[in-house]
Amino acid sequence: MTQTSTKSELIEVSSNPLTFHLHNSQVSYVFGVEDENVLAHHYYGKSVDHYSNLRRYPRLMRHFAPSPEEIETRDFSLSTLPQEFPGAGGADYREPGIVVEFPNGSRTVNFTYDSYTITDGKPQLAGLPATFAQKDEAKTLTVKLVENDAHLELYLSYTIFRDLPVITRSARVKNLGQQPVQVQRLASFSLDSPDNELNLLQLNGRYAQERNVTVEPLNTGIKILDSKRGASGHTQNPFCALIDRHATEFSGEAFGFCLIYSGSHKSIIQMDGYNQVRIQMGINDQNFEWWLEPQKSFQSPEAVLVHSDQGLNSMSQSFHDLFLNHLMKSKYSHQTRPILLNNWEATYFNFDEKQLQDIISSSHDLGIEMFVLDDGWFGERDAPDSSLGDWVVDRKKLPNGLKPLSDYCHSLGMKFGLWFEPEMISVKSKLYEDHPDWVLEIPGQRRSIDRSQFVLNLGRAEVRDYLLERMSYIIDHADLDYIKWDMNRNMTEVYDAKLSASEQGEVSHRYILGLYDLLEHLTDKYPDILFESCSGGGGRYDAGMLYYMPQTWTSDNTDAIARLKIQYGTSLLYPVVSMGAHVSAVPNEQTGRMTPLRTRGLVASSGNLGYELNPLNLLENERQEVKLQIKWYKAHRHLIQFGKFYRLQDPFETMRTAWMFVSDDKKAAVAMYFNIFSEASSPLHMLNFAGLDPSQKYSVNGEYTAYGSELMQIGIYPLTQNDGDFDSAVFELKAVE
Ligand code: DGJ
Repeated sequence: MTQTSTKSELIEVSSNPLTFHLHNSQVSYVFGVEDENVLAHHYYGKSVDHYSNLRRYPRLMRHFAPSPEEIETRDFSLSTLPQEFPGAGGADYREPGIVVEFPNGSRTVNFTYDSYTITDGKPQLAGLPATFAQKDEAKTLTVKLVENDAHLELYLSYTIFRDLPVITRSARVKNLGQQPVQVQRLASFSLDSPDNELNLLQLNGRYAQERNVTVEPLNTGIKILDSKRGASGHTQNPFCALIDRHATEFSGEAFGFCLIYSGSHKSIIQMDGYNQVRIQMGINDQNFEWWLEPQKSFQSPEAVLVHSDQGLNSMSQSFHDLFLNHLMKSKYSHQTRPILLNNWEATYFNFDEKQLQDIISSSHDLGIEMFVLDDGWFGERDAPDSSLGDWVVDRKKLPNGLKPLSDYCHSLGMKFGLWFEPEMISVKSKLYEDHPDWVLEIPGQRRSIDRSQFVLNLGRAEVRDYLLERMSYIIDHADLDYIKWDMNRNMTEVYDAKLSASEQGEVSHRYILGLYDLLEHLTDKYPDILFESCSGGGGRYDAGMLYYMPQTWTSDNTDAIARLKIQYGTSLLYPVVSMGAHVSAVPNEQTGRMTPLRTRGLVASSGNLGYELNPLNLLENERQEVKLQIKWYKAHRHLIQFGKFYRLQDPFETMRTAWMFVSDDKKAAVAMYFNIFSEASSPLHMLNFAGLDPSQKYSVNGEYTAYGSELMQIGIYPLTQNDGDFDSAVFELKAVE
């Protein structure tokens, strides 16, 4: 057979057999058309310049391995073949990428290759957040598959970015038949691999302890990582990675996978009897069904696949780069963010205009750049049990409205921000009196309450219209610079009385599409507003929300020591600049722990710095220390928010944590070291830096000089005296002649 190939930069197509090779200098992804027009996966990993079909699946005699009747054979079966998008109900007994129910009750669906197109750049996904690219930054391959008997088409999209080891994937199914069909599962991607000496890394957790790093060996069977909450959730981030058994932060192969979606999600990791691994991610198919009318399509969210052959730091840096340059669409994505003071832990619901003015004035004196008025400014909101939905200023607390506070901030050169929780409703509210039917519930049945509130059905246009009108009014009248968008409970009794019985499986996804629609309108209408997303802290910290809102409140847990793990895990894929990190008072509200102000300052300065305390309660020496913290952060803010981030020591494995930030030109760096528990007669622990220029001489804290190679290979003793628990140190590195 002669092989011919069409070489275009990034995507190479060879014939006989038809093979697609997406590659740049860092990554290769290969698949091709097999016998019976099945789309088979060949290779995903470190870049190869040429692909000579070495990974075509061998013809092997297998038992209990059905083949198509026309070619009856025992050495070619879907049950073992690595595929690009497995169907359901046929010879492949592993997890299907798609399940569709047809009018005759059949749920068997299998696609074969039809054709392909290649486009420059990256088309947007209708109604969904997704990565974007200029025409010269990426290429997109769309492969059309068909299911002839069922009159369905399946479009698989693959985008490869020119300068990143990143492939993004999504799937769209179209009904060409005469009758509606019901889509019951559509993965965003499916990937089969013969590599099995792998560990699975995931980010799980709970409220106030989000994104714990958990690593376990892959074994035969199925592992599901999911959320059924109608939100990405505190408990399972829509991310996981398959990594070498011996991978570290600096070495070994890592395959990171992330879903750009904020609703219920599901990742399936399956190892079959032949130790072949299949991984899939997509909308959770529990309580999900989508009617597809003739000529209509259903689009899956996008998934991001990142490859690294240099360990986890390199994987994370690629995610950070992608999210900053190709996902966060806000004009603020590349701007340094203001240092804010949020009044939540300072006052909770109890404040008045005078008290807030005093807090603003005192914050200004400290060098703070934005004041954020949190929960409690609207309706009659003196406790969490009322007023959500009534986005009208509470004149008892603020008789003159919000404008004087906003004007006061602006007169001091500060910005003014405001908290909303748009997706919720309290029973004790005017909105509930007017529109009890706007709630997600099953009429006449018992419902679940959480934090005294219910979820508004954002799938309905009238609900979104109301919220857009109310929020626009407040934004315009209060001259807002920033919005914190909170969401404090998850969905239950997911039902919409306006839809038919058979459409109820659509409600949860319709909600998320509605949420995205509202965010699209709001962020388009108010491009100058800096949005921060929040869900009881980091309960919806996902790439979907980052598309609209370039920063997220990382966790309600502001304890500096707890934050080490939370921020460490979060940094696995989310950029440092997206992580809201605040200094709060001690004893800490969530853990009761006392930690030094210095350590609280350094942990919060490892992200997007803010304060969550009453500045009027600071002692004079604390005020002076906070002033210095703020001055220091301002001097290093660009480096911290946009430098290359390296994790150096893992709080999940040791009682220490360290990380650092290195400028693009490697001329400046800042490293931070945290010693969690102090030990008597402590062994000496070294700190090895990373990311420096080995042949460059650096001054360290202006105290001594050393070359990059020494600082990285040999390292330093970060703490030489025992200063008690929760001690920390910072190292400023500057290139010198
Ligand atoms: C949960 C958020 O995470 C907190 O920061 C605060 O805004 C409260 N909600 C207010 O109700």
